[in-house]
Amino acid sequence: MKILQVNDLKVCFETGTGPVRVVDGVGFEIEKNKCFGLVGESGSGKTMTALSVLKLIPEGGSIGSGSILFNGTDLVRCDEKIMRSLRGSKISIVFQDPSSALNPVFTIGYQVAEAILAHRNIGKARAGEIALEYLKKVHIPDPVKIFHDYPHQLSGGTKQRIGIAMALVNSPELLILDEPTTALDVTIQARILDLLEEIKEKEKLSMLFISHDFGIIARMCDEVGVMCKGKMVERGTKDAIIRSPKNDYTISLLGSVKAFA
Ligand SMILES: Nc1ncnc2c1ncn2[C@@H]1O[C@H](COP(=O)(O)OP(=O)(O)O)[C@@H](O)[C@H]1O
Ligand SMILES: [Mg+2]
Repeated sequence: MKILQVNDLKVCFETGTGPVRVVDGVGFEIEKNKCFGLVGESGSGKTMTALSVLKLIPEGGSIGSGSILFNGTDLVRCDEKIMRSLRGSKISIVFQDPSSALNPVFTIGYQVAEAILAHRNIGKARAGEIALEYLKKVHIPDPVKIFHDYPHQLSGGTKQRIGIAMALVNSPELLILDEPTTALDVTIQARILDLLEEIKEKEKLSMLFISHDFGIIARMCDEVGVMCKGKMVERGTKDAIIRSPKNDYTISLLGSVKAFA
């Protein structure tokens, strides 16, 4: 069973010098309960592909053509009301910058509870309890204290754990992770990857995992799509791509990762 089927996706931006196509005919599929990795250098169109799935492309950009089937429903044709009901519930995203999901003026507990209340008809007290459960689930040290803290009091790694908790609170079917460890110190990166691996094993969800780092993609993903200049230049199982890459760009990406050299 496939949870997501992206076909011939094109994303354009209007610029002063005319339209620029930043995603150019991308297609891939994600099997239920599997992790699909998008890998490629900075600017290759990974984030725009992810934002297309949520229909959150920034001002000036738009989906020019293609379809994005989520459980068989074409999101490209869904209106904003339906998209709002899906975002943060059935489909959620963790961004690279751990601060971007957090509002500086509210406590962590309040914000995680609000993420729950946005999609569920339950009382505030119950939402608070669930929020605390999720802070524990992502192994936040001293979760009761952190519940009452504000974002600026926390480290980048803790903030990213909260970003992950907020993405999980409504039991998404598809979790998108856009360079979730890139902004963190190397030692913290490793611990966040441990957490994401645990989530992949324990939770029943499918993942779209984005990274410029083939080492991380190789660790996390079952299938991989390699992006270069807006196009998906190669796609296959992780093992097949590592063992016998067909595309020159893929070969150069693999060559830059010591483990495969
Ligand atoms: N708001 C924008 N306006 C115009 N071009 C943009 C905008 N955001 C991103 N782009 C361009 O889209 C291309 C793909 O960007 P992105 O998807 O963010 O790449 P990646 O995530 O692979 O680093 C880049 O060339 C980038 O310059
Ligand atoms: Mg990006």
